[in-house]
Amino acid sequence: MQNYPQYSSKQKWIHWSTLLLIVSAFLLMILKVTLSQYLGGMSTIYILHKSFGVLIFVITLCRFVVIKSNGVPEVLPKNQKLQRILSKSTQGLIYIFLIIMPLSGYLMSSRPLNFLGVITIPAIDMPNIYYSFFHITHKVSSYLLVILLILHIAGALYHYFWIRDKVLQSMLSRN
Ligand code: HEM
Ligand code: HEM
Repeated sequence: MQNYPQYSSKQKWIHWSTLLLIVSAFLLMILKVTLSQYLGGMSTIYILHKSFGVLIFVITLCRFVVIKSNGVPEVLPKNQKLQRILSKSTQGLIYIFLIIMPLSGYLMSSRPLNFLGVITIPAIDMPNIYYSFFHITHKVSSYLLVILLILHIAGALYHYFWIRDKVLQSMLSRN
């Protein structure tokens, strides 16, 4: 029997599958940049990148529904005010970017969005200046998200290796 707070198994699934999808979305773009001088068409890379983005968007909406019904476990003691503020604000900003990234990705393109070659979502027609705006938003947000994730992961590792409490286990252990 665990005697420390635990995220539910649904929350753990959502958390770790988001990690996998985010890393894949970033790796695909790194691949695109490194291979673009050697290869012409990058359509598969784009389709995968966009489809992973759509999945992240849907999973994030599910995350909100699960948090609304299950709540979030209190993994940090109430007296650790600074740590609670840092951790909650980083998590809150990550939620915002998990929505901004896919939306700006969709809105920056004048072409329909092809989800895994199965579903086509039509593009929204608007003046070019808006496409450029969403393109910049997508790019800048990706850098900000990386910074937040570095802080987030550093925080989790700090708890595990330095403070040696059970914060990391709350997202890892089997229920
Ligand atoms: C959380 C989800 C996503 C993440 C983390 C992400 C991340 C990135 C990153 C890091 C880049 C490279 C930025 C640059 O330096 O130009 C990029 C480019 C791009 N993303 Fe996303 N993206 C996501 C979702 C999406 C979605 C849903 C779409 C479209 C529906 C999309 C469409 C694109 C396109 C077309 C590019 C290439 C832009 C170019 O060639 O200049 N992304 N994305
Ligand atoms: C090696 C990578 C990662 C580790 C070790 C890690 C660890 C953790 C831990 C221990 C918690 C619980 C902390 C608490 O409640 O105070 C947590 C929560 C959270 N993590 Fe991560 N994380 C990682 C990657 C990610 C990624 C890639 C994302 C999002 C893109 C993310 C987003 C979140 C969010 C939003 C929460 C709040 C709870 C929730 O809504 O699920 N994490 N993480």
